[in-house]
Amino acid sequence: MVSIVVTGRGGAGKTTMSANLSTYFSRRGYSTLVVDGDLYLPKLAFHFGIYDPRYNIHTLLKNPDMEVIQAVYHDPKTGVDILPGSSKIYDVIDMNQKRLRDIVNEIRTRYEVTIIDSPVGIPFDTISTFRLAKYQLIIIEIERSPIKSVHRMIENEVVKLKSLGKAYGLNVGVILNKVRESSGDVDDIIEFLEHSVDVPVVGVIPFDNKVPEATNYGRPVIDYAPHAKASKAIAESGDILIKWIFNREKRRGMSHRLYEAVTSLLSFDRAFAGKKL
Ligand SMILES: Nc1ncnc2c1ncn2[C@@H]1O[C@H](COP(=O)(O)OP(=O)(O)OP(=O)(O)O)[C@@H](O)[C@H]1O
Ligand SMILES: [Mg+2]
Repeated sequence: MVSIVVTGRGGAGKTTMSANLSTYFSRRGYSTLVVDGDLYLPKLAFHFGIYDPRYNIHTLLKNPDMEVIQAVYHDPKTGVDILPGSSKIYDVIDMNQKRLRDIVNEIRTRYEVTIIDSPVGIPFDTISTFRLAKYQLIIIEIERSPIKSVHRMIENEVVKLKSLGKAYGLNVGVILNKVRESSGDVDDIIEFLEHSVDVPVVGVIPFDNKVPEATNYGRPVIDYAPHAKASKAIAESGDILIKWIFNREKRRGMSHRLYEAVTSLLSFDRAFAGKKL
C-alpha cells in the first residue's frame, strides 16, 4: 500500500502524469487508485472520459456519512479506479480540505498504489495527505531558457517542494516533462538535480502533441497512443518507479537507464546526449 503525491508548477503536467502513471501501474498488475486532489480546478477525471461525476470528492467532503467507495469510478480499459472532483463551482464553497486526508486514508487500504494529483505550486489542498504518503513526485517543465535560468527555476521550485516533502519524511523524485530538442542540455539538468539538489530524476518525458490529443479524447496517452514518444517515456519512468518503490534499485542504475532513455527517445546525437555516459 503505497501513496504517491504529485506536485509541481502550473501546467507542468501533474495531472497528465497522474493519469498516465496510474494507468501504467494498473497495467503492470498493481491495483491502482488515482485521486484528484486539485480541489478548486479538478481535471483528472477528464483524462478517463469522466466529465460530470454525480458523486465525487466534494460530495464526500460535504457528506461525512457517505461511503468513499460510492464516489470511486472504475475505468474498464485501464483498470484504474478514479476518485474525481466536482466540476461545479458551488461545490468548492465552504469545503474543508483537511478531510481529504480521512477520505484518502479510508479508501487507499484497498489498493497497492494510490496516486494523488495536487494543485499548482505549494499543494495546500493535498498537504494533509502528505502524512499518508511515502513518495512525492515533482513534475518540472523545462522551458526554452538559458541554462542559468533553468538552474534558478529549479532552485526556486524543486528545492521548496522537496523540503516540504522531506519535512513529511517523503522520498522525493523528479520527472522532467515536455522536453524538447531545443530544451538545452538535458544531461546537465539531470546532473544538477541529482548532484546539487540531491533528488533522483525518475523520468524524462518529451514534448509530444499526442498528449493533448489523447486528453481531448478523454484517454491517457499511453492507452490512446502506446507507441507515441511520450507514452514510451512514461512507461520507462513507470518501470523506474516500480523498481524504486517495490524493489529498491541503486540510484546509479536508475540514472544510467534514464540517460539511455533520453538518448533514444529524443534521438539526440550521441555527441550531444552521450558525452557524459
Ligand atoms: N509531454 C507533454 N507533451 C505535450 N503536452 C503536454 C505534455 N504533458 C502535458 N502536456 C499538456 O500540458 C498542459 C498541462 O498539462 P496538465 O494539465 O497535466 O498540467 P498540470 O500541471 O496538471 O496543470 P495545472 O497546474 O493547471 O493543474 C495540457 O494541455 C497537457 O495536454
Ligand atoms: Mg492539474
